[in-house]
Amino acid sequence: MEGQVVMGLQKLRVMIGSTTAIGLRALARLPHGTRLIGLAASYPVIERWLRALLCVYQPFPDIETATKYIRRFIPAGHEHSDVVSQLKQFADVTRESDYPVLFYLSGYAPGLSRVFDLGGGIGNLFYPYDRELRLPATLRWMVHDLPDKEEIVLQFAQSRHENRIGFSRRMEDASGVDLFIVSGALHYFEDELAVILARLAELPRLVVVNRTPFSRADPIVTTQVGDGYVHACKLHSLAATIAGMEAVGYRLVARWPVHERASRVPLRPDLNDTYWGLFFVLEADRRRRDASL
Ligand SMILES: C[S@@+](CC[C@H](N)C(=O)[O-])C[C@H]1O[C@@H](n2cnc3c(N)ncnc32)[C@H](O)[C@@H]1O
Repeated sequence: MEGQVVMGLQKLRVMIGSTTAIGLRALARLPHGTRLIGLAASYPVIERWLRALLCVYQPFPDIETATKYIRRFIPAGHEHSDVVSQLKQFADVTRESDYPVLFYLSGYAPGLSRVFDLGGGIGNLFYPYDRELRLPATLRWMVHDLPDKEEIVLQFAQSRHENRIGFSRRMEDASGVDLFIVSGALHYFEDELAVILARLAELPRLVVVNRTPFSRADPIVTTQVGDGYVHACKLHSLAATIAGMEAVGYRLVARWPVHERASRVPLRPDLNDTYWGLFFVLEADRRRRDASL
């Protein structure tokens, strides 16, 4: 009984948070709305009050703190069955935002032998890319994701009679791959992309980022709330991400806006940006990393 009351109160807090977020997002669209929210939030009392109302929709200092907080209200995250079944459906679709990747990757596709797919879900990206680019028969496509995905990735590949897909539990397996791709997942990592890559013994030759929400200025940790699940995520700074990649030796070949989704942080609308895709090539002389960032 007591447990039910607590659950009911938690649901109510999430509903109040959702309503507050809708209100702030609507306000942000009005002339001077963004400035008004910034001004209101500059008063510590109002800021604390807005945060309390926003509940799981408020900004957080880091992904770990956010995850601990949001799990008290909504227990499910990336493992939610709706999330997984949507990823399965994506295997049969080439999404609009995949086309820039296909365009820039097409010249490299015949020479690919090792791919590391960070936050690769159920390996769903492989299937449209293979359909469009006819990836080599000897290719090894390693999906790296949370441990609960391993079985799903392997079973799904088996159901498609696909033996080029494997699951990697270790980020180190990305060392020296031909293609490192992180699509719809970079925002689930605390560290910047260049910091993640600089830990590898050998840098990947091509790096693709796709369908990623970024911040217009400073990074900010926020949440993505769905029906029955919630994820903590960090909107990295787009400019700092590109600068970081250039500092470790990559050249930005292209970037494209992804209008399929938008990130709208209720309390910091000034940081809102569209999603982006980025295509980097490693400069020829920078493959081995001796120094850390
Ligand atoms: C939106 S899906 C993206 C799937 C696929 N890359 C695509 O573009 O369709 C995000 C994936 O990131 C994974 N993910 C989240 N946090 C992660 C972490 N810390 N390590 C590895 N994978 C993670 C989730 O499990 C999920 O499968």
